[in-house]
Amino acid sequence: MLAEDFSALARQRYSVRDFRPDPIPDAVLDAILGDAAFSPSWSNTRPYCLAVASGERKDRLKDAYVKAFTEALPLQRKEPAAILRATLLRRWPDADYKTWGRYPDALRERSVKVGKGLYTHLGIAREDRAARDAKAQRHLEFHGAPTVGFVFVHEGLMPFAALDAGLMLQTLFLSATAHGLGSCALGVLTTWRHPVDAEFDVPKDYKLITGFLLGYPSEHPVNAFRAEHPPVEQARPR
Ligand SMILES: Cc1cc2nc3c(=O)[nH]c(=O)nc-3n(C[C@H](O)[C@H](O)[C@H](O)COP(=O)(O)O)c2cc1C
Repeated sequence: MLAEDFSALARQRYSVRDFRPDPIPDAVLDAILGDAAFSPSWSNTRPYCLAVASGERKDRLKDAYVKAFTEALPLQRKEPAAILRATLLRRWPDADYKTWGRYPDALRERSVKVGKGLYTHLGIAREDRAARDAKAQRHLEFHGAPTVGFVFVHEGLMPFAALDAGLMLQTLFLSATAHGLGSCALGVLTTWRHPVDAEFDVPKDYKLITGFLLGYPSEHPVNAFRAEHPPVEQARPR
């Protein structure tokens, strides 16, 4: 493989946020998962586990996620009464790792920038709550993707397990790109654990660290959005 080919592949991948309904042929999905197996990991422990759903199982997962999201909407909107109720009754979403909470300041700036960029690209105003909620709900509808996946990490090898899972997922995403598929990591799916437990027998000690989508990108304008990719930050030599 030429270095230019790899550079082109790495730049071709982006987070797809609208998919055509066409299913992914089994042989293609198997090839992508086969490539992901060639990822490095801490002492070759491969401390992660995948759950992948298409068809009716994916549809049931989608319904369960939309239900969980709808019920938690007052919390998502940070309504004080909803926060108080959740605190008093200890009824927070059943995440393995908390997805809510403030980012460190330096990172928050970057997160706000990409969020603002995406909403501006879609013409959604900050004060248009209904449009923002509808856009947020699209995550739980898997953006129309025919296949959804979940990544679990062994809690006994954290944080290295999370690093290894990331290496595996990027290998999987690049292979998907090479096969003409789109992908998107979907951390928001980890806000709720129960939908995936209802569909998969996840081995003990494995915690849900991210979801992801696979499928063929649609022509929706959201897919024309590109996040910025400045050079990887490097520590200055003393
Ligand atoms: C672990 C992880 C979780 C993510 N979760 C979400 C998510 O919940 N919703 C979303 O729209 N994008 C999500 N993303 C996509 C990022 O926003 C995206 O990778 C980043 O903005 C860079 O854009 P690009 O992937 O198009 O290059 C996630 C990415 C990663 C790596």
